[in-house]
Amino acid sequence: MSKLIENWTTDLRYKKYNAWDSTYLSALTEKVNAAPWRLQYHIQPTSGLLNDPNGFSYFNGKWHLFYQAYPFGPVHGLKSWAHMTSTDLVHWEYEGIPLVPSNEYDSHGVYSGSALPIEDKLFLMYTGNVRDADWNRSAFQLGAWLDQEGQLTKMTKPLIETDTTQYTHDFRDPQIFNYGNTYLAIIGAQDTNKQGRVAVYQSENSHDWHYLGNLTYTDLPMGYMVECPNLVFIDEQPVLLFCPQGMDHSLLDYQTIYPNAYVLGSRFNKETLTIENPTTLQNLDEGFDVYATQAFNAPDGRALSVSWIGLPEIEYPTFSDGWAHCLSLVKELSIKDGHLYQFPVVETQTLRQNEISFKGQLLSSGQQLLENASFSYELELELPKDERGELKLFADEDAARYLSLSFDTISGKLTVDRTLAGVPFAEEFGNTRSITIPRHEALKLSIFVDHSVCEIFINNGLKVITLRLFPAANQTQLWLSGSGKGSYQGKFWELLSQ
Ligand code: FRU
Repeated sequence: MSKLIENWTTDLRYKKYNAWDSTYLSALTEKVNAAPWRLQYHIQPTSGLLNDPNGFSYFNGKWHLFYQAYPFGPVHGLKSWAHMTSTDLVHWEYEGIPLVPSNEYDSHGVYSGSALPIEDKLFLMYTGNVRDADWNRSAFQLGAWLDQEGQLTKMTKPLIETDTTQYTHDFRDPQIFNYGNTYLAIIGAQDTNKQGRVAVYQSENSHDWHYLGNLTYTDLPMGYMVECPNLVFIDEQPVLLFCPQGMDHSLLDYQTIYPNAYVLGSRFNKETLTIENPTTLQNLDEGFDVYATQAFNAPDGRALSVSWIGLPEIEYPTFSDGWAHCLSLVKELSIKDGHLYQFPVVETQTLRQNEISFKGQLLSSGQQLLENASFSYELELELPKDERGELKLFADEDAARYLSLSFDTISGKLTVDRTLAGVPFAEEFGNTRSITIPRHEALKLSIFVDHSVCEIFINNGLKVITLRLFPAANQTQLWLSGSGKGSYQGKFWELLSQ
């Protein structure tokens, strides 16, 4: 028997759900609720660890969003799906953990997947992760039905077994969607040559699936493993979002441990399974902490996405408080002038309270925009063309601590630096991220701050920089400086989820 299984009950990671210890969990939840850096309007775990968003869908008059959860501690243990519902994509209600490891096909984790309303139920398609005594992995693509009363029933047999002539058991994260009169599912995979792949399956009835081949946009390698692939359509144009682990840096310029990338094409060719006329591979987020984004075509016509703000294999400062990670705001995806835009859904504006407007000349000595910005706000700032300056968020009284955003609309560069932003972490992946912005043009920043998360949207979402940071309680000031020539204007709202 493997060491890990012997240690099943003593090693927190392998604590089983049928050994659910309510005293243990309520003590942990109490500790988590009293911890600093908890969030106001982002989805966060009640205790323990949250990772990928799953099953994002609209069903029975509500939005449904699940996430990978391990409530017993901030570790990647035996995963389950926690369930959230909402009527507006902004205020979410926690519905508990309906999908947990329970049988021989998912005993070592109910891994990521997606959801699709079919007739009067919500169909969930997910990966069951199984380990044998020698810790070898098997992956099964599984199904479950959520009815209108919220009752969940797992299907008894796997929908898809891993074809080991083509793929290893690193085969997971099915995304199911309607395509014409049929269903397609794309699955993150590693082939037997240890190359990352996106496998495509088709079904006429949601339970009998047949293999079509690999989805491609290029002949170039997609790393050694693809996780969390998603295909969405914006006015017929396909957008493939995926996480190619081990991606060659010459094919994608990224600084995180694993990237979350996308390509945009002119058309999806179902016969050849190709994305035609693809853009070059792009980072979905230019920041520090985004992974495992899930996207879907909502029935209201919008393409919506939500990301895990967190990364595997990195130690975050909240671990010692018993919780880890959160989800991003829900974003609408759109295409303008051949570029993908991502911006928080318009419903996010319902959180706005107590508007403050700013306007003025940029000063080289700097000026305080707000002394007590609190930790939960939206800041919209228009900065002039042909200027250089710096915005300091999360600044303390003597500006020893702050998150720096320096902008240069002369040479076209924006840099976010979290070196002084708070408790340091993941420094081996760099404390700064720089992006190219239009030269000699005004710059618009839309910044969403929530205690220990910052989502920065540049020029209405043409680029996005997302990051976690762990400030001290006195880092409440907002400062702006420039060369003294141009002027700025902006608005500030407190964001409250009640
Ligand atoms: C991505 C991922 C998925 C997997 C899940 C397990 O973060 O590794 O590939 O299904 O997390 O929690």
